[in-house]
Amino acid sequence: MCGIIGYIGKQTEHNLIEGLKKLEYRGYDSAGLCIQRDGDFYVEKTIGSVEKLESKTKQKEQFGVGISHTRWATHGKINVFNAHPHFSSKANISLVHNGIIENFESLKNEMVKRGVYFYGDTDSEVICKLFGNRLDIKTLKKVLGRLQGSYALAIISKEENAIYFAKNMSPLYVSIDREKVMVSSDPSCFLGLTHEYYSLDDGDYGKVSLDGCLFFNKNHKKIIKKTIKINFNYQNENKNNFNHYMLKEINESKKTIKKIIKKYSQKNITQILESIKKLDFNRVYIIGCGTAYHAGLVGKNYLSNIKNFDVFCDYASEIHNQKYIVDNRSLAIFISQSGETSDTICALEYMKKMGAKTLTITNVEYSTLAQKSDFVLPICAGQERAVASTKAYIGQIIVMFILARIIQGKKYNLFLKKLSKNLDYCDDEIVKKVAKVLSAKKEIFIIGRGLDFVTALEASLKIKEISYINTTAIPSGELKHGPLALIENGSSVICVASDKKLLSKTLNNAYETKSRGAEIMLVTCLDIDEKIKNNFNYIFQIKNKFKIQNKKLKNIFKPIQMIIFFQKLAYYISVEKNLNPDKPRNLAKSVTVA
Ligand code: M6R
Repeated sequence: MCGIIGYIGKQTEHNLIEGLKKLEYRGYDSAGLCIQRDGDFYVEKTIGSVEKLESKTKQKEQFGVGISHTRWATHGKINVFNAHPHFSSKANISLVHNGIIENFESLKNEMVKRGVYFYGDTDSEVICKLFGNRLDIKTLKKVLGRLQGSYALAIISKEENAIYFAKNMSPLYVSIDREKVMVSSDPSCFLGLTHEYYSLDDGDYGKVSLDGCLFFNKNHKKIIKKTIKINFNYQNENKNNFNHYMLKEINESKKTIKKIIKKYSQKNITQILESIKKLDFNRVYIIGCGTAYHAGLVGKNYLSNIKNFDVFCDYASEIHNQKYIVDNRSLAIFISQSGETSDTICALEYMKKMGAKTLTITNVEYSTLAQKSDFVLPICAGQERAVASTKAYIGQIIVMFILARIIQGKKYNLFLKKLSKNLDYCDDEIVKKVAKVLSAKKEIFIIGRGLDFVTALEASLKIKEISYINTTAIPSGELKHGPLALIENGSSVICVASDKKLLSKTLNNAYETKSRGAEIMLVTCLDIDEKIKNNFNYIFQIKNKFKIQNKKLKNIFKPIQMIIFFQKLAYYISVEKNLNPDKPRNLAKSVTVA
């Protein structure tokens, strides 16, 4: 994954580090920078966060040409040798890379045979070594010709006050004004520094200095690119009074719904919704990864109630492996908080190639997915910094709800207003008590039916991700078809029950695990008989302050009401275990490798 920055101008260290801070969502295994001043390199690297890099780096006012990097390890252990920037054999060229070079092993073997020494195990070092001692456009073109895979590259040398760059399947942007140059994985890094930027296409490469920018396209033709004005706002959110971003973000769910209500009353959005409604589609594919995929499953439930088309929902990484029928009467909906998830981008490209119309539901309106889609609908969650997605999940579900209502020609505003007022955030003190019990467990099973199974899936992802407890979601009816064999004395089973119609069956499944020794816990927003409650070891009652009279819509927002409890539960288990819920091990906020 990784995030890269290039900078030419004054206060080089400061700007390279501030840029990295905004890119830490792309990985935080290690960080590093290299600055060229008067023909010498100044290098600093560290394992861990950008903050650590900042504390090690002496900041200077002077002009410099620099590159910096925050890493999510793909090849090679997390150590300073594998931390970027990387260096050529004579250490006169330095490079940072985001992406994966698929043929790096054969390239490396070939160079090793020629006597080239490698200090680390990364694919990125291999790219740098391919330059030999030379950094110019001709050599860059030659090196790129040897690479298979994805890359965003920023490269500097001791000889020139310039940054060379190249992009293929990893995002890269370039910005320049009279006093500074910046290259970045994300245009939000330009905010406050420059006013416009260039967005690179796959295959583009070139060179930028204070004298100007030189671009070539994948056919090696010199091209003139148009600048894009920075017209988005990026508020680098802080934690306010919360201990972690995750808790703050869970508590911003109501705000997200309110922002959606406001935004979706604007003409530009209602026009997009109307255009989607007018499309003559007979199949809908909903595609995403992780939490976004779970929001897609809820969306599938909403859309499945509508006649005239079939709805499918799948993992982005699995789309190519299925034999779906896709043509120009297909609508492909991509859900992604970041809009930069590589698997989802690949799925979008595949769907486009097959002729489908594409719609992206995202939190980042200038993201790659948004740029590549026919239609974009925002989820208005504001910056989400914790790796575990919380308020964005709520936003994604709400937008799917709006879409379903619009397609049916029905109103939605009143429901959302009521929901935003009445959503229950659950009593933290009670959730903490449950978390304390569960934090000692090695394994948790979460069972449910229908939309409660989707909640179980998302809940289990949240708990796994930030508390490292092996948590498995099981459709409760499936227990006796295999998973029940795992239940033994002391097993922990959480039963999610928000749908009255499915209650008795789900309860029976929970009792079946109790008979085999499991401790069972009920999480429900229903009014449950005391006798039933007595069968459970623990009960968590979610207040159902939001009631809908319409029978068909009764359960529509239950996934939102229920998941907030589990988001908090995962958070407090993580805190109880003394972990950092905002930055779980091995993960990154934005998954930019396929
Ligand atoms: O940015 P995206 O929504 O495309 O990200 C998709 C997943 O990587 C993401 O939802 C992931 O599963 C979260 N960390 C879960 O909390």
